[in-house]
Amino acid sequence: MSNRIVVVYKSSTGFTKRYAEMLAEKIDCTLAVYKNATPEMLSQFDIVVFGTRAHAGRIDGLKTMKEIFHKSMARKFVLFVTGATPNEAEETIDGFWRQNFTADELAEIPHFYLQSGLCYEKMSFPDRLMMKAAAAMIKRKKSKSPEEREFEQAISSSYDISSEIYLKPLTASLANMEGNP
Ligand SMILES: Cc1cc2nc3c(=O)[nH]c(=O)nc-3n(C[C@H](O)[C@H](O)[C@H](O)COP(=O)(O)O)c2cc1C
Repeated sequence: MSNRIVVVYKSSTGFTKRYAEMLAEKIDCTLAVYKNATPEMLSQFDIVVFGTRAHAGRIDGLKTMKEIFHKSMARKFVLFVTGATPNEAEETIDGFWRQNFTADELAEIPHFYLQSGLCYEKMSFPDRLMMKAAAAMIKRKKSKSPEEREFEQAISSSYDISSEIYLKPLTASLANMEGNP
């Protein structure tokens, strides 16, 4: 069983890494970092779980990771994405999946959203600039919707709304796959 699942993560400020490590405490799997992922490496496993972040509405590294997966012998691709959007913003999260997946991918690739937060202390310089630009743009707006006010408040400083409880649907799905080889 132990060689069936590899969890490959791509993390910039640590949230995705932490979720990947929490996942590895709950299921029998091997952890690997994104930059070490090759078709040969993934071929040692049946199931590839890719963990990454939402980044300006996109899924960071997804295109490359899908290419590596398709060149490998691994059987199943599973995705989890961490983001600052709270779980309650269901419409935003649904739109995010629709924007990043084709209809076929939406049906084929099990995908999970894990709320995380923002960490300005560990953010790269370009990312900090992007956040600053977003904050300036919203500040300039004269009339703001309640959602825009909430967003403005949310991005004003670092916060952490991650929790291992959000891993439950993902661990349940993986347990189901393990039971149905
Ligand atoms: C420039 C930038 C853009 C971001 N875009 C989004 C986004 O579109 N949706 C979202 O929910 N979170 C967004 N976030 C928040 C990150 O997805 C979140 O902090 C993530 O957990 C970071 O993962 P990491 O710590 O593993 O790098 C963004 C963060 C930065 C710095």
